[in-house]
Amino acid sequence: MITLFSHIRQILLAEREPIGVRRNELMKEIHPLTNAWMLIKEDRILDFGKMEDLSNYLNKHSIQPKQEINCTGRLIFPAFADSHTHLVFAATREQEFVDKINGLTYEQIAARGGGILNSAEKLAQSSDEELLESAMHRINEVMKTGTGAIEIKSGYGLSVEGELKMLRVIKQIKEKNILPIKATFLGAHAYPKFYKENHPAYLNLLIRELLPNIAAEKLADYMDVFCEANYFSVQEMELLLEAGAKYGLKPKVHVNQFNSLGAIATAVKHSALSVDHLEIVSSDDIEALKSSNTIATLLPGCSLFINIPFAPARQLIDAGIAVALASDYNPGSCPSGNMQLVVSLACMRMKMLPEEALIASTIHGAAAMEMQDTIGTITPGKKANFIITQPVSSFTYLPYAFGTNHVYSLYISGKKMI
Ligand code: NIG
Ligand code: FE
Repeated sequence: MITLFSHIRQILLAEREPIGVRRNELMKEIHPLTNAWMLIKEDRILDFGKMEDLSNYLNKHSIQPKQEINCTGRLIFPAFADSHTHLVFAATREQEFVDKINGLTYEQIAARGGGILNSAEKLAQSSDEELLESAMHRINEVMKTGTGAIEIKSGYGLSVEGELKMLRVIKQIKEKNILPIKATFLGAHAYPKFYKENHPAYLNLLIRELLPNIAAEKLADYMDVFCEANYFSVQEMELLLEAGAKYGLKPKVHVNQFNSLGAIATAVKHSALSVDHLEIVSSDDIEALKSSNTIATLLPGCSLFINIPFAPARQLIDAGIAVALASDYNPGSCPSGNMQLVVSLACMRMKMLPEEALIASTIHGAAAMEMQDTIGTITPGKKANFIITQPVSSFTYLPYAFGTNHVYSLYISGKKMI
């Protein structure tokens, strides 16, 4: 079936020859097409053009669309590709929110047994069904604000059973085929209490017990480690990345959230697909990233929520590094998966231009999940995964008018989801 979207105020990232990752000035080019039409056929984008050429096009190709959707005043652009989330979790942590209001830091809360360990305890008590149901609820929620592809991490299991349980739930979500999903193994998210004084034993459990099982059941696409003071050291991360590589798991790692420990250079050495967070970066970190294909994934929602510095997006982009934006949706450091808010924050607090933020949250998010060939731009042949906005005066209005849901419709594989 062919559907016509007509009278579109603007299509953004309308690219006949799709570009993958963009650097420097190319991150400002969003290829707008004004007063446009777009055709989709089944699950794919068929073509696009200017309204004045529509009837010629339809005649020439003998196309009679089954359905026409008039998009007067509205924009169309690729659905957000959220490449960093922890959206499978058992319980929210609003008590820690109050603790923070009362003056405790994220690190102090974790040190007294809150944080990730708190989530792990709750997860151990939850059934697969409960985890699946609450995660599906969150997925439905983030689709309403325009998310059309998502990465989900484990990391609240922190035991053989717990991690496998989380990854199997993610697999079940994947198999529902609602939206493209990638799964990341984050067994190295925190040392569980039992292994606090015996790190080698926990590393051994991750490497010898979990990884072979995960590989046998094909439960993960990527390997993550929270490399940070009081969590996993750079050496421990390296050991884990080497072990993951034996099973074909590419690194996507949590680094430089609170400290610059040299993790970026190590992750780059291991051909990390992305390094995520980067609130604290040194000139050595930038040097290491500059000459690599590794994507810098920034998470401004986390900076806002736990009140830590925002990543130096300008410095990174101006150094020619490919920057992606993601939500980090999780119960501790960012209980929101709203990518429109992420884009607004990137503009307001990290001085990214609206164009750069759009690219970072769509095609670069897709690239940070190795999906750039099928989603992330409006390109004939790619999946019809896109957003139709409410009528708006311009593209820049979207991040400017923050806190409003500008999404009118979300299409995934040609199907209207919202
Ligand atoms: O990306 N920093 C590590 N992990 C998460 C937070 C997890 C949690 O607090 O539950 C993050 O911010
Ligand atoms: Fe995270």
